[in-house]
Amino acid sequence: MLDADWIAVSHEHLDHFDPWVLERLPERTRILIPHYPGPAFRERMMAAAGGRQVIELPAWEKFPLDNRGSWITAIPELSPMCHDAAFLIVADGRGILHCNDARLTAAQARRAKHLAGGTLDLMAVQTSGASWHPICYEYPAEEMARISMDKRISKLRSVQRLVRQTAPELAVPFAGPPCFLDAEVGHLNWVLDRREGAFCDPDVSAEWLREHLPQQRWDYFKPGDVLDLDTGECTRDPVSAEFSFADAGEYLDRYAADRAAAIAEVIAEHPEPGLGLYDRFAAHFAYLGGLSDYFLRQIAMVVRFEVTGPNGGVWDVDFAPDGLTVAHASPDVRPHYRITAAGRWVDAVLDGRMAWEDLLISFRVSLYRDPDVYNDYLVGLLKHANAPALTAVEEYETGRDESERITVECDGDRYDIPRYCPHAGEDLSVGAVVRDGRIHCLAHNFAFDLATGECVNARAANLTSHRV
Ligand code: FES
Repeated sequence: MLDADWIAVSHEHLDHFDPWVLERLPERTRILIPHYPGPAFRERMMAAAGGRQVIELPAWEKFPLDNRGSWITAIPELSPMCHDAAFLIVADGRGILHCNDARLTAAQARRAKHLAGGTLDLMAVQTSGASWHPICYEYPAEEMARISMDKRISKLRSVQRLVRQTAPELAVPFAGPPCFLDAEVGHLNWVLDRREGAFCDPDVSAEWLREHLPQQRWDYFKPGDVLDLDTGECTRDPVSAEFSFADAGEYLDRYAADRAAAIAEVIAEHPEPGLGLYDRFAAHFAYLGGLSDYFLRQIAMVVRFEVTGPNGGVWDVDFAPDGLTVAHASPDVRPHYRITAAGRWVDAVLDGRMAWEDLLISFRVSLYRDPDVYNDYLVGLLKHANAPALTAVEEYETGRDESERITVECDGDRYDIPRYCPHAGEDLSVGAVVRDGRIHCLAHNFAFDLATGECVNARAANLTSHRV
């Protein structure tokens, strides 16, 4: 596997971008990445690539891979808030669409199929996110169970809808669910429950999708399996064939024991923070607060950080539209969001050894919000943390064209709404469900009240909706 001429890396999450693998590639390997508006991924990749060539692919441009007509292109999500991209590869006449973690719109998926010559031989679709919502949130048990099931089913539905648009020769769910080897986060392995966890394993996903889209051919792969795109035959790897998701518990115990020394090493590399953590914290947020007035206006709330361990504390960051302030927490202030994390990890973010998103996706955080509404802008500011990426989001969101409209019906009323979702451009004529006076966009699961246009479960632009 490592003897590669090319590799393509979709984004900077460490379950996709693995510096350990990059170091072991031959010097000749060229590394392809999507072009994103901010420099963060490019800079991290350049640092990890050693002397290997890194090439950024502009969206939808065909990049030649050989002299026989093979090519690849990157398909980023429409909104620059999400730095995720699919890759479309056409090699020796066969078309492969690998969605990675990108939630393509229906129109993007159809365009990819057209670009591949009208047939997709293989489409890989992510049916299981490594998402800290709801896993790291402090919900009562019953609410957690309900939210988990909603999340699981809406993910599968959005994949079902996307694959229906493209009807590939073979559709393959991949990834997840996340699992946890370190004792500090071991309790989160409840997410692996095959019937009730927030995310499905590929075996359960394939079963659900076969039942709900039976005319489509579905399969899933384990490490080492080989698919012959000419015949459609899959040769199973004999070692992987021994593994069953139903026995994941025992497997994880063995895996955790194998990795214990490596985990201990990582913890040792992140000692408890020294004096002055609050000052470094305040300086870091003062910097973030100066990056984008637009983001400050959209966040508009107090976030309480509970930093545990030596030199930690409880600190409030007020993302106010007229400027950001940081203070020791006061009992008079009611925060809308609370983030609890150990000082050793927060310190690594403050001195640049780790990005906020690395910390969030490590799940070594506990989160609470009231009201229970997703704030895309808070996560966006923390994860991008650079002005060009934030400006690109502002330009995208303020430059939206809503002139193309559709009419939807709900409970006997008809509403005139924009065809494309105000969040990130999903085609609502095919990528949404209307029920109970709301339209639910399947791309990221935002719901809009049809009477008022208000987004009811996230801080997002409203839908311009009119009763007709
Ligand atoms: S495009 Fe994200 S919720 Fe609609």
